[in-house]
Amino acid sequence: MSLERRYQNVEDFAKAARRRLPKIFADYIDGGSFSETTLRRNRDGFDHYTLRQRVLAPLDPKPDLSVTAAGRSSRLPFGPGPVGFLGLYRKDGDIAVARAAARAGIPFVLSTFSINGLGTIGKAAGAAPDFQLYLDEDPAVNAEHLEACRNHGVERIFLTVDTAITSVRERDVKNGFRSVDRMTPGLFWQFARRPSWSLNLLRSGFPEVELVRGRAEFGRGAMAQAGNLSRRLDKNLTWDTVAELRKAWSGQLFIKGISDPEDAALARGAGIDGIVLSNHGGRQLDHGRSTVSMIPEVRDALGPSAALFVDSGFRRGSDVIKAIALGADYVLMGRPFAWAVAAEGEAGVNHLIQLLEREIEITLNLMGLSSIDELRRAGTEVLRP
Ligand SMILES: Cc1cc2nc3c(=O)[nH]c(=O)nc-3n(C[C@H](O)[C@H](O)[C@H](O)COP(=O)(O)O)c2cc1C
Repeated sequence: MSLERRYQNVEDFAKAARRRLPKIFADYIDGGSFSETTLRRNRDGFDHYTLRQRVLAPLDPKPDLSVTAAGRSSRLPFGPGPVGFLGLYRKDGDIAVARAAARAGIPFVLSTFSINGLGTIGKAAGAAPDFQLYLDEDPAVNAEHLEACRNHGVERIFLTVDTAITSVRERDVKNGFRSVDRMTPGLFWQFARRPSWSLNLLRSGFPEVELVRGRAEFGRGAMAQAGNLSRRLDKNLTWDTVAELRKAWSGQLFIKGISDPEDAALARGAGIDGIVLSNHGGRQLDHGRSTVSMIPEVRDALGPSAALFVDSGFRRGSDVIKAIALGADYVLMGRPFAWAVAAEGEAGVNHLIQLLEREIEITLNLMGLSSIDELRRAGTEVLRP
């Protein structure tokens, strides 16, 4: 059966990814913190809003889905958010997502925890990606990251601020995710049961995080490097840190991981270009609210001039439409891109983007709207509680 028929939605990719990946990685992608209540709530949040159908209005079968946020345009109102270790779910997975995003005319955000680095991605995709920055406890390492961004033509940095402490993801604890730095019999067995993943990934040796490759303090091999990178995250992030980064980085600066209106109000005064309203996909604070339900309050607190990106739980075209109607500028998705690349590589990511694009087009048509711009102007008029 063709890829186009087999995959009709994000969940189809999720199922295929689980069949192809060793459990330790499938669980790492899927999991949330503690009881996974925020993870579920992110999805439930969308059900509180219904869409208005309008009929007998002139219809444009190819609505304009483009958006411009913080002065940059994107052909579609959604795109891949930063996801660590895409290159562990499939060889060169981060290159695959970057190329698919470039083809679709949407930005790609490269995680600090990426197998391929800025230079490799820039060459493969034909343009510099945006960069998601995790601050290390050593300022010299951070200065190097910024220098690499400047050298590779990065225009926009997303500073992630909701992981100063890493929450407990119980699936990862059970699988020993954070302590894997050598092959154990259990891991060998998991890999042996996933021959397609193993052959694809392990052919050229276990990958490494390009950004810290060859640096003794981060260890060798992606898993050890992942553990060390996480352990070394700066635990003392404050608004002063943001102010310092604002001085050191002249390009665009977004703060990723705001999920409270008061923090959004503080961000407004910090000279940043935008925020990502995010609860890290339910992977950090458990029992928080869904991000979609917070968009109106956060938009009010942030004001109209800074860009409001949102993520956590977006799986459908209608989810994107609801977020924009509520006041967001752009939607990022994490797991959907990880699942698509794990399941089918670049072709899978191309198809995922097309599926979501089509879903948005059809939904807009049925709502009697001809563009994302019109949706933004109509705002909550197009929603019913
Ligand atoms: C496997 C995985 C790895 C992630 N790695 C990063 C990362 O390196 N940096 C970061 O800022 N966010 C990271 N995130 C969070 C995502 O950027 C995003 O906030 C979250 O996935 C959005 O929720 P969604 O997966 O429901 O779309 C990661 C998320 C997942 C699922």
